[in-house]
Amino acid sequence: MQKTQSGAIVSVVGLVIMATLFLHELRYYLTTYTVHQMAVDLKRGETLPIHINMTFPSLPCDVLSVDAIDMSGKHEVDLDTNIWKLRLNSDGYIIGTEYLSDLVEKEHTAHTHGDDKDHGHHEESDEKTHLHGFDQDAENMIKKVKQALFSGEGCRVYGVLDVQRVAGNFHISVHGLNIFVAQMIFEGATHVNVSHIIHDLSFGPKYPGLHNPLDGTVRILRGASGTFKYYIKIVPTEYKYISKEVLPTNQFSVTEYFSPMNEYDRTWPAVYFLYDLSPITVTIKEERRSFLHFITRLCAVLGGTFALTGMLDRWMYRLLEMLTKPNTRSGFR
Ligand SMILES: *[C@@H]1O[C@H](CO)[C@@H](O)[C@H](O)[C@H]1NC(C)=O
Ligand SMILES: *[C@@H]1O[C@H](CO)[C@@H](O)[C@H](O)[C@H]1NC(C)=O
Repeated sequence: MQKTQSGAIVSVVGLVIMATLFLHELRYYLTTYTVHQMAVDLKRGETLPIHINMTFPSLPCDVLSVDAIDMSGKHEVDLDTNIWKLRLNSDGYIIGTEYLSDLVEKEHTAHTHGDDKDHGHHEESDEKTHLHGFDQDAENMIKKVKQALFSGEGCRVYGVLDVQRVAGNFHISVHGLNIFVAQMIFEGATHVNVSHIIHDLSFGPKYPGLHNPLDGTVRILRGASGTFKYYIKIVPTEYKYISKEVLPTNQFSVTEYFSPMNEYDRTWPAVYFLYDLSPITVTIKEERRSFLHFITRLCAVLGGTFALTGMLDRWMYRLLEMLTKPNTRSGFR
């Protein structure tokens, strides 16, 4: 009676173990894994899409401008540029939309763009405005912006910027304003609050497992204003799905730097993104484990469990026999 009971327990335990191991093996077989490969980047002449979605909680849309410059000093503003500016009230609700088709171009054309040496021209335009005096438009604009600043209006900038695949930078700042107007609005560069929240900054579509390091970045200024610089290294990446579909995209790494400004600085606060492309591309390939391998493992698991339960069963049997009949010393001999 007891023998059969112990046998039943052992076989039930054995079956449970078998089922568990089988399911585990099956899941292992069905999940794909990824293989990373590296190679030198051979692509040429393609464009690099920059996806931006960020909020400036303390700057009205009227003063913000997006500016993109590549290494050749060329403004990539004629390309497929789709940037929107959303006006946000002080609670963060959207109260208006504005399509930004003409990025700041007019002012910069005559000047060479070194990294951050491009602020010099403000002085010239400053003097010019002095001479010409203010026209009605500028005055209205100042009134409007001051009103917006007072009511705590913010701005969300989002969209896609298509640039050449060479190193360059884009920045979001008040550089689009005439310097004199800016001076009237902010009463000094130190009052330009370039606090920002980056919801999304990426260089192409997402694939499973991609992590964009700037997403969710919050930089709120507590003290003096200044210039934020994000140095971005872009790694061209291709993701090959198991279905042979190929997704060209980019990963990136970033380091950041903040330089506070003082009263005498000639520059205006801004948020710069300076990007550079890595010469090495990464290919990530989804792969499935081999079916024969799966069968082999299955056989090993099932056969092994089977043998083990058989052995256990025999041992239990002998143990019980020994306990119930202690006199007969047949036990393990
Ligand atoms: C931008 O980010 C905000 C906040 O996460 C989100 O609500 C909004 O839908 C995003 N906009 C776009 C166009 O993705
Ligand atoms: C800048 O704006 C943010 C968001 O509105 C605010 O929290 C912060 O106190 C402001 N900083 C300064 C120095 O005014």
